[in-house]
Amino acid sequence: MGLEHIRNLVVMPDVQIVGVCDPHTPSLEKARRVLNRMEGVRYFANHLEMLGHCDADVVVIATPNHTHFHIAKDVLNCGKHILIEKPLCITVSECLELQQIEATSSVEDRVVWVGLEYRYMAPTARVRQEIDKGAIGKVRMITIREHRYPFLEKVDDWNRFNANTGGTLVEKCCHFFDLMCVLAKSSPVSVMASGSQDVNHLAETYGGRTPDILDNAYVIVNFENGVRGMLDLCMFAEASKNEQEICVVGDKGKIEALISESVVRIGKRKNGYGTFQDFPIELEKDVVQGFHHGASFVEHRQMQEAIRNGRKADIGLIEGLISVAIGQAAHMSIDQGRLVLISEVL
Ligand SMILES: NC(=O)c1ccc[n+]([C@@H]2O[C@H](COP(=O)([O-])OP(=O)(O)OC[C@H]3O[C@@H](n4cnc5c(N)ncnc54)[C@H](O)[C@@H]3O)[C@@H](O)[C@H]2O)c1
Repeated sequence: MGLEHIRNLVVMPDVQIVGVCDPHTPSLEKARRVLNRMEGVRYFANHLEMLGHCDADVVVIATPNHTHFHIAKDVLNCGKHILIEKPLCITVSECLELQQIEATSSVEDRVVWVGLEYRYMAPTARVRQEIDKGAIGKVRMITIREHRYPFLEKVDDWNRFNANTGGTLVEKCCHFFDLMCVLAKSSPVSVMASGSQDVNHLAETYGGRTPDILDNAYVIVNFENGVRGMLDLCMFAEASKNEQEICVVGDKGKIEALISESVVRIGKRKNGYGTFQDFPIELEKDVVQGFHHGASFVEHRQMQEAIRNGRKADIGLIEGLISVAIGQAAHMSIDQGRLVLISEVL
């Protein structure tokens, strides 16, 4: 993910990369190759060393989930703007501690941005615009289906264990829980989930341990304003067309974002049974596509604009916290076989 950020940043106007840090030499070498001996970039194996030697305005944290908390604390204490990858941290208590540090910091107008960039995928953004224009009336139900390939291999296999990731419903699904909150325009109240590890990684061992990460789940989220959300996650379903399908139903119609096809489908009840219209969605010309359909580039552009105009982050510590809280509540619901109130984890 760090390389994706680098590829976005090198094409942005008025941005200079001044330092890259990674303790894993092959990763640092990859970054060096992508930057193609760009002048002015220094390379480090330790983030404290980088913070001490680089005069940077912004630090992007794209390290394994379980390292976010202590690295973010160091960066917050240095007074820099931060873009921190999702999930903000692996537990609610870590997220709350970062919030506390920021709340008592003397740094003014600092932007702390959490990398929940699925909001900026072009079809998702179109769904939000259409809902705001009233295309489907009052939103009642949000279904997000992610049917995809298993987790990829990562450096030192950190993503094979819940202790490092926060659990699949935190690690991966914080994106979708954030999206639900945005589409519902409300706060989550309770979560009910069912899930398990049925197919993936069962034959793998790392230091004698078998991965413990779940690979399929249904998660129902109830919102304060009565909207219901449901996530349908399957990580052994890559033999399909759309990796993500986002479906929102209001009292006047239904809107769907078919992410891989880059299509938004809108059906209005007033037009009758079975009627709908498909809208192909294209990226703006100057957006770098990357692995996230241009969303991480748009995220950087929005963050740059926020910093320049003294604006707050669109997706800050609170949004990062809430998305982790829903994931944590979902895991608790699976483990304990009951409905979990968000107030129990927050
Ligand atoms: N926003 C998204 O859509 C998205 C997509 C993929 C990954 N991510 C997030 O990005 C982060 C990184 O994931 P990844 O897929 O790139 O993993 P990765 O294993 O491919 O890369 C992580 C890199 O961080 C390095 N690292 C470990 N400890 C470090 C430290 N203390 N200081 C500096 N570097 C350190 C590792 O050596 C490795 O090179 C994770 O939090 C992940 O959840 C977000």
